[in-house]
Amino acid sequence: MTWQLTDEQLAIQAKARALATEVIGPRAKAVDEAEQYPWENVAALQEAGFTGMTVPKEFGGPGHSFLDAVLVVEEMAKTCGVTGRIAVEANMGAISAVMAYGTDEQKKIAAELVLSGDKPAICITEPGAGSAASLMTTRADRRGDTYISNGKKHWITGGTVSRMHLIFARVFAEDGTEEGIGGFLAFRDETPGLRFGDREPTMGLRAIPEMEVIFEDMEIDADMVVMPPSGFRHGFGDLMNAYNSQRVGAGTVSLGIAQGAYELALEFAHQREQFDRPIAEFQGLQWMLADMSVKLEAARSLTYRAAESRGNGGSPFPDATLAAQAKIFTAEAAIEIVNDALQIFGAAGYSRNNPLERMYRDVRMFTIGGGTAQILRTLVASRILDMKLPQGRGSFLPKGTAQ
Ligand code: FAD
Ligand code: COA
Repeated sequence: MTWQLTDEQLAIQAKARALATEVIGPRAKAVDEAEQYPWENVAALQEAGFTGMTVPKEFGGPGHSFLDAVLVVEEMAKTCGVTGRIAVEANMGAISAVMAYGTDEQKKIAAELVLSGDKPAICITEPGAGSAASLMTTRADRRGDTYISNGKKHWITGGTVSRMHLIFARVFAEDGTEEGIGGFLAFRDETPGLRFGDREPTMGLRAIPEMEVIFEDMEIDADMVVMPPSGFRHGFGDLMNAYNSQRVGAGTVSLGIAQGAYELALEFAHQREQFDRPIAEFQGLQWMLADMSVKLEAARSLTYRAAESRGNGGSPFPDATLAAQAKIFTAEAAIEIVNDALQIFGAAGYSRNNPLERMYRDVRMFTIGGGTAQILRTLVASRILDMKLPQGRGSFLPKGTAQ
């Protein structure tokens, strides 16, 4: 497989680069400091056609590929991680799940929202169920034509600013029988019982609220159930399959931040002089920069390959193993690259006047959010070994030996 971008993709990339350089980048410091959702950047993305990119033409979208969206995310993240993340969720994740599994009515609603700039929230993580997401306790109980949901999610990106929420919940039939895990669509300011708790004071990516999202007898019309193809019984796996698109997107944000940091370091290495020479003439830094470039090329290849794996075997989503491999490598490499770029700047890199300080905080999140680097290694191991690898203690110890 080759990463020769098509003329159309090169045009998308050039347009995104211009927007990022001229509009988004100059605002990045202020956006970080204000810790307010950058609605003006959302409007700029939407006007440029960079939200709802993957929505098919029949639902009013341009029907772009995941790789097209990845190119936009990468360019935005080079100058502003927050805007990169918004571009992810306005093009991948919840919207991908609805476009693959939803009813026509759901697709219409979701398409209109993202095309008008909404960044849907995906609500999986709970205080007691992070990596162990399948142990979620949020429930949805069938009552006639509605589901009544109770529970609490946390670390929900975009809570209070997103209109659409895709909520993962344990589903119970009218008679109390547990049916599996399903996806439910709820809408800010519309769905009764949907409310927001505390905002997390985050280390980086500060302009997107990370929120507790609370469901108190939340009423969801049964028409708003995003029914996975094999029903609720395998609903969790099917919804996680859709989530692979967002994993590729998350990796791409870290790639973009790292590329941006690398470009700053390259420029600085030529400008800064010590011992009467540009520091670029010192082999110690030359090899650091060379290693950074190697990691970036490898990360980009993995990320693009994962994005392009959509359609393999007829799947509407990127391949789970490739998405995890790409995110593990890219997120870890990106943290190293930004750290090295900061080192090349010396004390200037440690100043809050330098964008690297923000990039260092922003990039740190990508080995955590969207599946930690550890949990993704278990997924990869499970796939390459063709083994189920249940992580619960009872799965490893003979019954009766657990403490
Ligand atoms: P834990 O699961 O408690 O893990 C703690 C540590 O133990 C980690 O190092 C982990 O790797 C390790 N660990 C756990 N289990 C294993 C195992 N079996 N083997 C090896 N190591 C293990 N969630 C959403 O649903 N929606 C969002 O929009 C969202 N946005 C986020 C944004 C940010 C900025 C962040 C930081 C998180 C976000 N999350 C979101 C939550 C994120 O998905 C979880 O943080 C993540 O899945 C890990 O869960 P945890 O934080 O509870 O860590
Ligand atoms: N893509 C496709 N299918 C997936 C998947 C993925 N990314 N992750 C899990 N599945 C499927 C499994 O293949 C399995 O299907 P099977 O029953 O047909 O074999 C099913 O879902 C259950 O997965 P399993 O690994 O057995 O689940 P578990 O109960 O051990 O839970 C996870 C482990 C999936 C929760 C854990 O690996 C994980 O991804 N945690 C991070 C959650 C996360 O990313 N949160 C981000 C919130 S923004």
